[in-house]
Amino acid sequence: MRKKIMLLGSGELGKEFTIAAQRIGQYIIAVDSYPGAPAMQVAHEFEVIDMLNGELLDKIVAKHKPDIIVPEIEAIRTERFYDYEKQGIQVVPSARAANFTMDRKAIRDLAAKELGLKTAAYRYATTLEEFRDAVKVIGLPCVVKPLMSSSGKGQSTVKTESDIDKAWGYAFEKGRGDKNEVIVEEFIPFDSEITLLTVTQKNGPALFCPPIGHRQERGDYMESWQPAAISDYQLNEAKKIAGAVTRSLNGYGIWGVEFFLAKGTVYFSELSPRPHDTGMVTLAGSQTFSEFELHARAILGLPIPEIKLERAAASAVILAKTDSQNYPKYTGLEKAAAFPQTNFRIFGKPFTRVNRRMGVALAYAPVGTSTDIVRKVAKEVADCIEVV
Ligand SMILES: Nc1ncnc2c1ncn2[C@@H]1O[C@H](COP(=O)(O)OP(=O)(O)O)[C@@H](O)[C@H]1O
Ligand SMILES: [Mg+2]
Repeated sequence: MRKKIMLLGSGELGKEFTIAAQRIGQYIIAVDSYPGAPAMQVAHEFEVIDMLNGELLDKIVAKHKPDIIVPEIEAIRTERFYDYEKQGIQVVPSARAANFTMDRKAIRDLAAKELGLKTAAYRYATTLEEFRDAVKVIGLPCVVKPLMSSSGKGQSTVKTESDIDKAWGYAFEKGRGDKNEVIVEEFIPFDSEITLLTVTQKNGPALFCPPIGHRQERGDYMESWQPAAISDYQLNEAKKIAGAVTRSLNGYGIWGVEFFLAKGTVYFSELSPRPHDTGMVTLAGSQTFSEFELHARAILGLPIPEIKLERAAASAVILAKTDSQNYPKYTGLEKAAAFPQTNFRIFGKPFTRVNRRMGVALAYAPVGTSTDIVRKVAKEVADCIEVV
């Protein structure tokens, strides 16, 4: 089996996926909007295009004739995927899943209205008038997000009346794509949040990885750990929900399903039909296969006999502090590498932005070790490394 896989989006998650797929003999064409993207550095071939441009997408699909298309990001003209599926190309996990999760509206309505899952109350708005009304209905505090955005871009929390117009302006400025619409969500004062990595298989049941806890700042992930503290009841609820949403969206591969845990209950938040950034903790050997190995196996239809917790582990991000157009340098690697039972990845991104994720530190310990301990070590390793 040697499949030609076109990877749409070539960041750090795509890079790890590429390595995992190559290790089992597959051929990868990495695509992104800029040259030198992390996955391009390790792929067999690459293309640089604007993936929101449907014509350019069609062109490279016709040129390479991939067997499988693997999206790594949301900002893609995913409407084209239905056509590629008709041409006999396997879209991962499915055209429907990639298209529905491209903007927050389709997936939120599917979860809340069609599947009746518990989510934060929400409203949409396309004008400032509608926005003010929506905020009134949802109440303060509330969370405002552009429909098309990720990593917290354009997202803000409205705490007082005076934040309202600011939040509207910010969402517009930072949203991407061609939809100028925002979602206003009830603020959930959660106790913690988790990602439940879920694997749907071609010939086998859906599998759930041990839950991953994480902490976000500015809507972006700062650290994650596995296993997360969660009651049996909450975990079972989360599995039921993850099973229902992934079944409805269809296809096979790995999914990152996000939940808020509050007052003994579980709120569905959102999901990504691909490896999840908080799931980088699995690179520390915390479970039987990393999320990238699981994705590769699942999309190729290879069986996954079981997924077990192998270690307690944590990841902590390494961020850039300034904007720069040149390949940055990294200091402190000697110090970072001296910690036992740790590791790190430097993604090799060619340019930086303030708070752009440039690397990740990993720490692990035997099953049963408190995740507070591994979290602290991962953070210490991350703090050694500076992007200059
Ligand atoms: N309704 C909400 N209530 C409380 N916190 C929220 C809410 N929505 C988002 N957040 C916080 O912001 C983070 C990012 O929001 P999310 O909807 O996952 O956006 P993204 O697609 O950018 O990851 C969440 O992980 C959570 O920490
Ligand atoms: Mg999220």
